[in-house]
Amino acid sequence: MGSKLVGCGSAIPTLSVSNDDLSKIVETSDEWIAARTGIRNRRVLSGDETLRGLSIQAAQRALEMAQVKAEDVDAVIHCTSTPDDLFGSAAQVMSGVGCTTEAFGYDITAACSGFIVGLITATGLIKGLGFRNVLVVGADALSKFVDWTDRGTCILFGDAAGAVLVQACSADEDGMLGFCVQSDGSGQKYLNAGTSNDESILSNTNGIPGFPPTKATYSCIQMNGKEVFRFAVRCVPQSIEKALEEAGLPASSIDWLLLHQANQRIIDAVATRLDIPSDKVISNLANYGNTSAASIPLALDEAVRSGKVKAGDTIAASGFGAGLTWGSAIVKW
Ligand code: ACO
Repeated sequence: MGSKLVGCGSAIPTLSVSNDDLSKIVETSDEWIAARTGIRNRRVLSGDETLRGLSIQAAQRALEMAQVKAEDVDAVIHCTSTPDDLFGSAAQVMSGVGCTTEAFGYDITAACSGFIVGLITATGLIKGLGFRNVLVVGADALSKFVDWTDRGTCILFGDAAGAVLVQACSADEDGMLGFCVQSDGSGQKYLNAGTSNDESILSNTNGIPGFPPTKATYSCIQMNGKEVFRFAVRCVPQSIEKALEEAGLPASSIDWLLLHQANQRIIDAVATRLDIPSDKVISNLANYGNTSAASIPLALDEAVRSGKVKAGDTIAASGFGAGLTWGSAIVKW
């Protein structure tokens, strides 16, 4: 039994926010942001747009490309750290796409590595449990958790959704060639959006000390950019090398390097360490910023639809971010 990618899709919010727009709300400039990150624009949810809505659109486009009906989907893995509902959004995404209640869906929280974790999970469902069609959706709306007065973080993030359909196939056609996923909770201090207690609603304890608990709310994203940068440049090349080893392939067999779109300098440093020329590197972060779990499928979708990535190409994809989490997948398109 094998599994392969048979379709992709993506969706972005309508509101575009440029570096110049940001320079009106924090002390920064287009030159600084572009030089340090490569980012020039980002899309941000506005009005009645929802993350769920983007996820549904992205998933429907992936199904259209794959020419698979929603009723033939067995599972939807919704990779997000920012669901519209604390209990997860996967079931609503499934209903919106038109899947039947015979299918099941769940959310995976692994920050910017979420899509890679979703891919490995989909592959396990197919190769291990006999599933036929699994939608993997990477979607995030970090704009809702950014402190828009903090120039160190607010310049980085944007909102989007991207999706792929992973389908069962014969072992000969297998397109999921190698994986490597890792985590290190000791690095959580470098990148987090933890819960904090809302003391204002502390109510009558009725004589039971500490009870009832106060309502939890999420803090804005806190980040030590330099440490995250160092972590990415150190761990991502090793992770790709491990995934290549599992696939039994040399780095020279990579047609496309597709990294989580966090910072152009990180992408360039990883490509240099792996000796991959710049014309084999996919990058679209100038237009969208860091869209967390959405960034890899969003960039893949653009590269496929523009004709850059062709059938049979080997892609080394790698995600990294909060947790800390990181992971790589060697896949054939
Ligand atoms: N505009 C202008 N100046 C700025 C800005 C800004 N937006 N932000 C910081 N500065 C200033 C700082 O105040 C500092 O000034 P000082 O020297 O007077 O103190 C100077 O620029 C340098 O700041 P650094 O933070 O040292 O800048 P650095 O070169 O490290 O770049 C950046 C910062 C872009 C955040 C970089 O560290 C980075 O990209 N790190 C990786 C972050 C990342 O990828 N995070 C996402 C991971 S994915 C996930 O899970 C969400």
